[in-house]
Amino acid sequence: MGNMGHSMLDLVRCALGLWRKMGLWFCTCLLTVLFQFPLTLAITNDGDAAALRALSSNWEKKPFNWDGSDPCGSPWVGIGCTNSRVTSITLSSMGLKGTLPGDIQSLTELQTLDLSYNVGLGGNLPPSIGTLSNLTTLILVGCSFSGQIPDLGSLQQLVFLSLNSNQFTGVIPPSIGKLSKLYWLDLADNKLRGTIPVSSENSPGLDMLIHTKHFHFGKNQLSDSIPEQLFSSEMQLIHLLFDNNALSGSIPSTLGLVKTLEVIRLDRNSLIGHVPTNINNLTAVGELHLSDNKLTGPLPNLSGMNALSYVVVEYARIGNSLPQSLFTLPQLQTVRLRNNFLNGTLDLGTNYTSSLQLIDLQSNKIEGFLERKVFKNQLMLMGNPFCDQRGSNYNHCTTQPQSAASYSTPTPNCQQTDCSSDQNLSPNCKCAYPYVGTLYFRAPSFSDLGNSSRYQALEKQLLTTFQSHNADVDSVALHDSLINSDNYLQIDLQVFPAVKARFNQSDISVIGFILSNQTFKPPKYFGPFYFLGRVYNAAQDTSGSKFKNLPVIIGAFVGGLILVLIVIGLIAYAIGQKRKAERVVEQSQPFASWDGSKGSGGVPQLKGPRWFSFDEMKKSTNNFSEANDIGSGGYGKVYRGMLVTGQLVAIKRAQQGSVQGGLEFKTEIELLSRVHHKNLVALVGFCFDQGEQMLVYEYVPNGSLRESLSGKSGIHLDWRRRLQIALGTARGLAYLHELADPPIIHRDIKSNNILLDERLNAKVADFGLCKPMTDGQKDHITTQVKGTMGYLDPEYYMTQQLTDKSDVYGFGVLLLELITARRPIEKGRYIVREVRNLIDRKKDCYNLHGVLDPSMGLPSSLTGFEKFVDLAMQCVEESGAERPAMSQAVKEIEGIMLLAGMNPNAESAHTSASYEGTSKDHPMHPYGGDSFDYSAGVPSSKIEPK
Ligand SMILES: *[C@@H]1O[C@H](CO)[C@@H](O)[C@H](O)[C@H]1NC(C)=O
Ligand SMILES: *[C@@H]1O[C@H](CO)[C@@H](O)[C@H](O)[C@H]1NC(C)=O
Ligand SMILES: *[C@@H]1O[C@H](CO)[C@@H](O)[C@H](O)[C@H]1NC(C)=O
Repeated sequence: MGNMGHSMLDLVRCALGLWRKMGLWFCTCLLTVLFQFPLTLAITNDGDAAALRALSSNWEKKPFNWDGSDPCGSPWVGIGCTNSRVTSITLSSMGLKGTLPGDIQSLTELQTLDLSYNVGLGGNLPPSIGTLSNLTTLILVGCSFSGQIPDLGSLQQLVFLSLNSNQFTGVIPPSIGKLSKLYWLDLADNKLRGTIPVSSENSPGLDMLIHTKHFHFGKNQLSDSIPEQLFSSEMQLIHLLFDNNALSGSIPSTLGLVKTLEVIRLDRNSLIGHVPTNINNLTAVGELHLSDNKLTGPLPNLSGMNALSYVVVEYARIGNSLPQSLFTLPQLQTVRLRNNFLNGTLDLGTNYTSSLQLIDLQSNKIEGFLERKVFKNQLMLMGNPFCDQRGSNYNHCTTQPQSAASYSTPTPNCQQTDCSSDQNLSPNCKCAYPYVGTLYFRAPSFSDLGNSSRYQALEKQLLTTFQSHNADVDSVALHDSLINSDNYLQIDLQVFPAVKARFNQSDISVIGFILSNQTFKPPKYFGPFYFLGRVYNAAQDTSGSKFKNLPVIIGAFVGGLILVLIVIGLIAYAIGQKRKAERVVEQSQPFASWDGSKGSGGVPQLKGPRWFSFDEMKKSTNNFSEANDIGSGGYGKVYRGMLVTGQLVAIKRAQQGSVQGGLEFKTEIELLSRVHHKNLVALVGFCFDQGEQMLVYEYVPNGSLRESLSGKSGIHLDWRRRLQIALGTARGLAYLHELADPPIIHRDIKSNNILLDERLNAKVADFGLCKPMTDGQKDHITTQVKGTMGYLDPEYYMTQQLTDKSDVYGFGVLLLELITARRPIEKGRYIVREVRNLIDRKKDCYNLHGVLDPSMGLPSSLTGFEKFVDLAMQCVEESGAERPAMSQAVKEIEGIMLLAGMNPNAESAHTSASYEGTSKDHPMHPYGGDSFDYSAGVPSSKIEPK
């Protein structure tokens, strides 16, 4: 008997051992089943499902997969669940249209509701939203909700409340004062009226919000005076934004008690009286905006405000002369005091701070300027009596053109710049559909508005935040920064997708939430911000299959009952089978009775892969629907599926009637379950149930290398990416040959079997022809020749002796394919022979210009090209002994990458991902490779005759 026979006996022995330890095994099995139970029956709570359907039916436009009955099970876009309960709804920028119905009150476990940037969503907020007592985050920014803000006082867990940029009317509900955990309160940009509520004997008020850090009430119609009672020394406010309202009365002196304050905006109101002197105690305030009020009196002593960098009190009635001490503040950059009644002589002193960029004192009553030390930066004194005397030729009296400094991310220097009309060019030279919106900075602390290093820091911060939250983002671009009429710095933002040309809805939900709930923190000098995103026309084909009208399955009670019955049955079955099993083993047909449908009882050797029932497979592929069919081959079909956990998988289903024997199937699974490497496609599980055989693999989204080389997938492979793919493939193979135990020969290396994940990492797939090399087969196995023409090792073909060097040959062919993009045999010409004939090492590019794939880039730009060709040619040497081992090939490629300035140990460079187009249809999926051939009558693991 051959060595395969030995390994089969090993298997048998192991299995027998386990049968003997039946007791222990059953405990394990029971635990496994119990653990899987909540997963396999994770069906959305009825009330929650009904509420979501009610939401959905109120929406004229809704997320694409919002149908079916199980929003948690086969997750709907933007729905997050814990067990069977819906805990989050995040649907930023989805283009939702309609109203929010009261049914939302059924979602009693809801913690996060983010419907931001859906301008089509409006009407009154249902009062019942105030009963969602688990809500921590409520974000409705940038919708069109109107009417009164309902009583939210019962939302005791609420931390984040963003109702800004809607059409809310009426007053600020005093009950908000009861939200003791509130951290963020944004009511800005609505039509709110009336007084800012403070507490009284029988009513709560905002003065109770002593843990809240943000009061953002700007752009409303709030009136009356700011209550003295609102502020206290217990408060922890950092941003106080009351700008653009109709507030009157004087600034309460209690403001000086809130020592944590960093930004104060009271501008654009009707405030009167003096600026309270105790704001000098506010040592953390960086930006102070008091413009466009009717404030009178002198500017108080501010020299205690050590953090102050931006002071704006324009168009007020501030008088007297400016205290010299103001200009010694260490952080001060900008002082804008135009159109006031400042008089006397301006004296900057000699100790003014070097960071001081701009002093605008136009249109005041300043009579003199004592310039003790030449002030080199911008000082504007036009419209003062001083300039009337000096004349407009004097340095600080010339009307300087207001620099309309604006920033846009520079246009990249790309070889190809013409995108189709509706696409945009990313900073990484990629044509794509960016997610677009506008960032509004409510109180930036700098005045050098054209200083690009600040915006570059912003770009970097945005990108890092998106990427650290696994958003599929390639790059960001900023456009047309300007100070708008509200005195906010506004900048258009474009966020580009990394691997695809278009984000899908789930991506948008993540990106929108990062911006709407302030996960993104800009560099500090940009100050508080909000973002308004535009509706995004998302791709629908990649965020999961459409699961339509899945039947609601059994309730937990019935499920539990069945489980108990199954367990009892299993135990009885196992006891009954024990003797029989031993007998069967003696007959060398150990698994004759193995049948997954009677429990996973016959699967003793597996660690990783899961057993799936036929029903689970059916459910995950929507009953093996056409839409999920992603390829086929001689053995049957490949389906895309989504497990209840949300994981996407590729399911290979053997054709009815062509299934191989249970033992072969099992040996194959066991082989696959032993190999774990990031450059090998992972086996998730298998199904051996109701006469079906299926292998469940991880889903690799970007298809095969062949599709990319042929231009079908739209992925552009430049030289660096090709090196990365060569390296990944080589590492995967080196693992199989040198680290797997026993070593494994793949036998079918070809571009169809190299898959590319979302970061274009190479993953070797299709182990259907794999051969393990057990002891005693150290150098070769004699076996019937199998493989794919063009990649086949000639030595193996002649001698039928398979060695790991046969894979090396196939790999060499793959390297040639990488540089030429040609199939190994095309129009009767064999690539290996052709390159061998052409090659002339004395000539430029080894004389291979004629066969190179032009889309790699100019031949002169391909660093390490010659070394790459040398390696490929060594790999396709006639004699296996002269070919390098895979680990040597890995080292060679790493060396080439270092030459090309790449880090061989970095993840594939997702920041340079580019797609030139989108393919509408599913290309033939590589799992459908034709060599995984059950029907050929020679199952892959069949013992070959000598
Ligand atoms: C201004 O305030 C600072 C710091 O609070 C203080 O040291 C200084 O004496 C004050 N100046 C005047 C003129 O009151
Ligand atoms: C400056 O203005 C204040 C009031 O606004 C006034 O009391 C003071 O006399 C003026 N000083 C000079 C030098 O005109
Ligand atoms: C631009 O901003 C950076 C801070 O990002 C600052 O360090 C630098 O001095 C500024 N440059 C100019 C010319 O103002």
